Amino acid sequence: MITACVLTMSDRAAEGKREDESGPAIRELLGKIAAQVKHSEVIPDDKELIKKKLVEYSSQVDLILTTGGTGLSPRDVTPEATAEVVDRQVPGIAEAMRAESLNKTPRAMLSRAIAGVRGKALIINLPGSPKAAVENLEAVLEVIPHAVEKIKGSTEECAR
Ligand code: MTE
Repeated sequence: MITACVLTMSDRAAEGKREDESGPAIRELLGKIAAQVKHSEVIPDDKELIKKKLVEYSSQVDLILTTGGTGLSPRDVTPEATAEVVDRQVPGIAEAMRAESLNKTPRAMLSRAIAGVRGKALIINLPGSPKAAVENLEAVLEVIPHAVEKIKGSTEECAR
């Protein structure tokens, strides 16, 4: 059983001016890998706060999915915050998400999302819109259980 946390980065949603639709969409998709979502939170695009939440939740769950703040707006700082707290990045996850997403929209290249490991937790950035978040997560969803096992130290044979 994979335990997860979903963090929505949005100034407007955190202020209550917009409903968070991406968090619930991600939670629903996580059902496909039977992940148990332990925490969901909406926070503003504040780099220090994002780092604090990532550090806090990385000791509590196997998987942290963030949504929002990956683009080019001045307030978009999720990838920077993530890069500062991970022990090592997993570039292939972000590469796969962008490659798959480019089949849907050229704007996919504007997401600066990264993925990485902090301690025993896998952290993956997703873009902010519900459509984009779901499309990106769908691109990597099936690999997440194996990634989590490996992070926990599984020596299981990788070849199929
Ligand atoms: N990826 C997919 N699959 N589908 C999309 O609609 N939207 C893009 C991109 N990635 C999109 C996508 C757009 S328009 C932007 S600006 C970036 O994600 C960054 O989004 P964010 O700033 O909400 O994180």
